[in-house]
Amino acid sequence: MSSRTSDVLVIGGGVIGLVTAWRAAQRGLATAVVDPEPGGGAAQVAAGMLAAVTELHYGEETLLALNLESARRYPGFAAELTELTGHDLGYRRCGTLAVALDADDRAHLRDLHALQQRSGLASEWLSGRECRRLEPMLAPGVRGGLRVDGDHQIDPRRLAAALVAACERTGVVFHRAWAERLDVAGDRATGVTTADGTALRAGQVVLAAGSLSGRLAGVPGELLPPVRPVKGQVLRLAVPPRYAPFLSRTVRAVVRGGQVYLVPRENGELVVGATSEELGWDTTVTAGGVYELLRDAHELVPGITELPLTETRAGLRPCSPDNAPLLGPSGLAGLLLATGHHRNGVLLTPVTGDVLAHALATGELPQEARPFTPRRFGAALGEKLEQPA
Ligand code: GLY
Repeated sequence: MSSRTSDVLVIGGGVIGLVTAWRAAQRGLATAVVDPEPGGGAAQVAAGMLAAVTELHYGEETLLALNLESARRYPGFAAELTELTGHDLGYRRCGTLAVALDADDRAHLRDLHALQQRSGLASEWLSGRECRRLEPMLAPGVRGGLRVDGDHQIDPRRLAAALVAACERTGVVFHRAWAERLDVAGDRATGVTTADGTALRAGQVVLAAGSLSGRLAGVPGELLPPVRPVKGQVLRLAVPPRYAPFLSRTVRAVVRGGQVYLVPRENGELVVGATSEELGWDTTVTAGGVYELLRDAHELVPGITELPLTETRAGLRPCSPDNAPLLGPSGLAGLLLATGHHRNGVLLTPVTGDVLAHALATGELPQEARPFTPRRFGAALGEKLEQPA
């Protein structure tokens, strides 16, 4: 058994783990990431909508504040990452149009609009005709919609690749292995043991393993984060140049109670998502899932059936009981959490990196992250802040 040591060890090389590692390394902490395939995970499936306003839900006003804060940081974050790595992130300030297809959808969107207005958010109600003027490919039956010019998009695959490059340039060490179990000595997390028996030691450990965070061996039972997988199936299509621009912004709707969205990339890719299924660890792409997405997307934008279907994929959102992330120190000294981001992992990437790095470097959880302490799910889960070792 070999042993390697760092100040910070991040379990999980998805976008949340990578941004945490990058920001920690920028603060001078010797940082490592353990993951068999850094840059993989849910970011390989996600559409990358930065939808703080259009994905607002009743009762989630606290999460809204964090989502808006992260959206506000996105331009600077994307510019810094591109400058450091030379990677184009596909960050597109294109806005979003949420439309209604029938009277029920319209009532739902009207309610959402009222909630947005009460929350001081910028969104504009449009008639069906105005929606089609903006997006001529929309179905003639569209009954109205909400124009949200501040909800943009990024390409999560490019984001993940850029974060791997940023980590490499900042001296983050990658251990390409599975973290088999968390190691604890006395009342403190000390590192992990990987599947090949290597012991990785660290002053502080960050659990950022997405939906797997809820079942890492070695974490004392009462401290396991309450995170479960929620499956999302997503399609990718290609817009041939003769159809461009097919859509000029993200278009979305609630059809028969399910969310459907179409996210057009500048490179001609069109991402259509997403199912939301409570099926445990299953990542099968099913005929039913593909059928429902195409059926609903076709109702919204009939011309979609002309496009080549290039990819079908399913991923797992890490969902917490209140749909908000768990950020910061856990009930075990030396173990911090950065997980449970559910539908907002890509959007929350900038703010998560900032607040985790701050907590790792100073022992203080910044104000904007305090409502998201794991402690809200029970005293055992969250801990008093401590000075770093
Ligand atoms: N935020 C979009 C989704 O999770 O499907």
